[in-house]
Amino acid sequence: MITHNTEHATATRSNPKQAPSEFTLNGKPTPFSPGQSILEAAINNGTYIPHLCFNPKVTAHGSCRLCIVNVNGRTLSACTTPAEPGLKVDSNTDTLQQQRLRITQMLFTEGNHYCPTCEWSGNCQLQAVAYDLGMTNNHYPMQYPKRTLDTSHPHILLDQDRCIHCGLCERAGRELDNKHLFSLSGRGIHSYLTITSDDGSLKTSTIDAKDNAAHICPVGALLLKDDAYHTPIGQRLYDTDAISVIGNCRPEDQS
Ligand code: SF4
Ligand code: FES
Repeated sequence: MITHNTEHATATRSNPKQAPSEFTLNGKPTPFSPGQSILEAAINNGTYIPHLCFNPKVTAHGSCRLCIVNVNGRTLSACTTPAEPGLKVDSNTDTLQQQRLRITQMLFTEGNHYCPTCEWSGNCQLQAVAYDLGMTNNHYPMQYPKRTLDTSHPHILLDQDRCIHCGLCERAGRELDNKHLFSLSGRGIHSYLTITSDDGSLKTSTIDAKDNAAHICPVGALLLKDDAYHTPIGQRLYDTDAISVIGNCRPEDQS
């Protein structure tokens, strides 16, 4: 059961005049509002489906594939599949969990994630999902891609080693901040987050520490410098609660 998950409140877009429709999620009748995705309906009803590239503040993208569910026998991403009356959805089968584990292991091996030295350890959704899926090894060989670190901005840093190319910062910039701050290019190990600025650095981009884009990263890639080690390791978000219990919310969203 999700307790203090801000995704819940944000994902609810119900029309009080309209009787809720229902679909079946893991054998349970699940009401939804018109326009909601399966993932939004699941969150609103307290069912956790692992996800990384979804945030209710921006348009769903469907790229990380962590939120895969079985919908009437087909495997689809829950964040981009509209909820419809009568759908039979399973989100928690052994096969789906195994597929999610492999996707997560791939994310770890395609980047350079050193959790013990990462400032975002304990708040990181990738780390939390890995724990929740019971990940104990990488399964795939490490790729050790050569990536860059941009510390040029006075208040924000971008560590590409940890970027999982979820595109949330790009969408938050475009949809919420009305700025073209980032774009994604390449595929797989060659994926790269490009900064929109004259010289390709954060310093000459138009990003501001108050921008939604600067606060939405689910991992320790795009970080606020001034906030570092605000909460000690051991007392952070997922140090105390599993992501399957509290969902994907930022520390500042916690009540
Ligand atoms: S910097 Fe963060 S939010 Fe942006 S694409 Fe990378 S992981 Fe996603
Ligand atoms: S959260 Fe649905 S594909 Fe990433």
